[in-house]
Amino acid sequence: MSGATSNSNESSTQSQRILVLDFGAQYAQLIARRVREQNVYCEIVRHDISPEQIRKHSPAGLILSGGPSSVYEAGAPKCDPGIFELGIPILGICYGMQIACEILGGKVSNTPSREFGRAICEVVADDPIFNDFPKSAEVWMSHGDQVQSAGAGFIPIARTATCPVAAVKHERLPVYGLQFHPEVTHTPNGKTLFKNFLTEVCHCDGTWRLDNFAEEAIESVRKRVGSSRVICGLSGGVDSAVVAALLYRAIGSQLSCILVDNGLLRKQEASLVVGQFTNHFKADLHVVQAEDRFLAELAGVTEPQEKRRIIGRVFIDCFKAEAKKIQDAHFLAQGTLYPDVIESGAALDGPAATIKLHHNVGGLPKDLGFELIEPLRDLFKDEVRRLGLDLGLPEQLVWRHPFPGPGLAVRCLGEVTRERLAILREADAIVIEEIQRANLYRKTSQLFAVLLPVQSVGVMGDARTYENALAIRCVDTDDFMTADWTRLPYDLLAQMSTRIINEVAGVNRVCYDISSKPPATIEWE
Ligand code: XMP
Repeated sequence: MSGATSNSNESSTQSQRILVLDFGAQYAQLIARRVREQNVYCEIVRHDISPEQIRKHSPAGLILSGGPSSVYEAGAPKCDPGIFELGIPILGICYGMQIACEILGGKVSNTPSREFGRAICEVVADDPIFNDFPKSAEVWMSHGDQVQSAGAGFIPIARTATCPVAAVKHERLPVYGLQFHPEVTHTPNGKTLFKNFLTEVCHCDGTWRLDNFAEEAIESVRKRVGSSRVICGLSGGVDSAVVAALLYRAIGSQLSCILVDNGLLRKQEASLVVGQFTNHFKADLHVVQAEDRFLAELAGVTEPQEKRRIIGRVFIDCFKAEAKKIQDAHFLAQGTLYPDVIESGAALDGPAATIKLHHNVGGLPKDLGFELIEPLRDLFKDEVRRLGLDLGLPEQLVWRHPFPGPGLAVRCLGEVTRERLAILREADAIVIEEIQRANLYRKTSQLFAVLLPVQSVGVMGDARTYENALAIRCVDTDDFMTADWTRLPYDLLAQMSTRIINEVAGVNRVCYDISSKPPATIEWE
């Protein structure tokens, strides 16, 4: 990512790009993804970006996002009116359309008939933005305000039963507005509108590809690093593995990877990563065997936040000590992704990080004395996965469910001991194995076992048992901010439960977690 609105270290050379001006939309990232799906590079920027800054990016088009405010409220976010004079095509979505109409002379007001949900959009004009779009199509509305009159320069080009101005086009300027949300899946033909805006209005050629991205990122890393050494922390997760694979491609033996084995990883997690980076990539890999130290520091601790603090501190200690042994290292590579950049406000020059404190556990502080390299900061998670496969990482690694920095410690409720971790690790491996066998792993977002600090009575053979209860947690989510529990088939749950109770000594009861987030969280601690 480049330009005045980002503090990225890498400079992308994506030739044609679209900028999404973010007015606080829930859906700004989704808009960016829809654009990239059309093979056009896209970035999210602040809503009040100046025309001069926009010019520096030389975008092929601008998209004004939706937002929660009303354009007529005091303090409502505005864009610089000068952006309409740049001659760059603009598409306003919901609030974005209202702001465009208001600035260009229209009138927006609260409507008696607010529209939330599905509506039927009737196209009333012939326009390239509606190429291949049905004359009457289902769309998703979510607004309390409407454009009452679009202003002298605008022509209404679509309507719904309760919204006479559901889409507009400016007579003189390349400016369009849609009151509905083409970016959500509830607007089934929304992609067609993006495609038309990008090709017919912005004249994008749709040539942006991930492999071009990889080549450019590799080149830019080589240039920046010169002959120095780069350190990359491997966590067992997808993002750090993809960063390391990309760096290995870029600088080979100048890369040193550090894996801190904290004893809190999933079954075979460390060995999968070690195998990949020593056998396949032959990278300089330092594995810090720190299980004893982590477990000693965690002994007797049951309070979740305290566990997280200890793990975070010990991890940094171990990492620093190992990094010190590596000569000539000036750079530290991290697997920061685009959603992290947006969430932290960095891309938008916005307020300080809003990411929940506990989600930073397992990361490194900024002041380790290295320059940061973050080659994935422009990518979404699914793009990172595709890149990982392109770079030769195995599916098993690339498609792993996310795993929290503090690892199994936050899934081992109560005291974290070697014995309890061993029980949890075995049970966790069984649930993963069974869901893979049922071909449902890729269809769910996160699945894991949680060892509860509860014992209950059971009977095995003819004997009474008094052993641990264990919970299975499985969720579906797009963004991990909200999640629903997965309706796993009963037969699959039965198979998981039977196998755990038969094969994992120390467990005699299995429960399924049926809480959604909110109000529950995904992890139990
Ligand atoms: P919660 O439990 O807050 O988790 O619903 C949302 C997502 O974040 C992951 N998670 C973490 N990831 N360090 C991480 O790197 C952490 O400390 C951490 N805590 C939770 C969690 O697994 C889920 O995917």
